[in-house]
Amino acid sequence: MSSASGRADFKRATIHRLTELPDWRRRLRQLDPIFFEASLTKTFADDVAREAFRERWLGRFLDRWPGLAHVAVTPDGAIVGYIVGAHADPARSADFADVGFYAHLGELTPHYPAHLHINLAAEARGLGIGSALIDAFVADARGAGLPGVHLVTGRHSRNRSFYARNGFEEIAGLDWGGTAIVMLGRSFAATERA
Ligand SMILES: CC(C)(COP(=O)(O)OP(=O)(O)OC[C@H]1O[C@@H](n2cnc3c(N)ncnc32)[C@H](O)[C@@H]1OP(=O)(O)O)[C@@H](O)C(=O)NCCC(=O)NCCS
Repeated sequence: MSSASGRADFKRATIHRLTELPDWRRRLRQLDPIFFEASLTKTFADDVAREAFRERWLGRFLDRWPGLAHVAVTPDGAIVGYIVGAHADPARSADFADVGFYAHLGELTPHYPAHLHINLAAEARGLGIGSALIDAFVADARGAGLPGVHLVTGRHSRNRSFYARNGFEEIAGLDWGGTAIVMLGRSFAATERA
């Protein structure tokens, strides 16, 4: 569906809570092409490895916290971007025991317990859709009374300017298996609280 949509359609995309789409369970796999296109890992040993990769960075969020997911939908109904995440501190949650870098971030995560993953289809980038998805996720985290939100990305990733514009600052840096990664955090300081 998205390939038939023009750029103008992407500009008119609107943000929806995933679970408020009438047919949301049936549409979950529509996020897969966006996820795999945006991911740095492009090749997998086999389908099991591919599915495990999806489960780690997308699948578990859709399975366990679908109510925190938001999607960008064009007027013709195509999903062109998503944000997923969780509210529990991942350094202290069994749900993320397999995500090794959290063993090094446990002193910081209590200040930014929510965490997110966001991806847009390539044609939907640069239009402000990402900021609207961040706003939706942040509104839920603040509404839940959490002190902040974080994400982990590559130190040299092109998305750093996007996160800086959306109020995230560098909280920690790590060498992770030869890749420089950073934890970026946004604190809901008193001035930002409603
Ligand atoms: C990062 C992303 C969510 C931002 O959403 P957006 O709506 O495009 O944000 P904006 O409208 O502010 O668009 C421009 C910014 O997006 C980021 N961006 C654009 N294309 C990008 C790409 N291919 N890869 C990474 N970041 C990209 C840049 O930060 C850019 O800012 P700049 O113009 O100052 O360099 C979106 O571009 C995207 O999905 N990128 C690819 C995947 C990604 O990096 N996901 C986050 C993983 S932690």
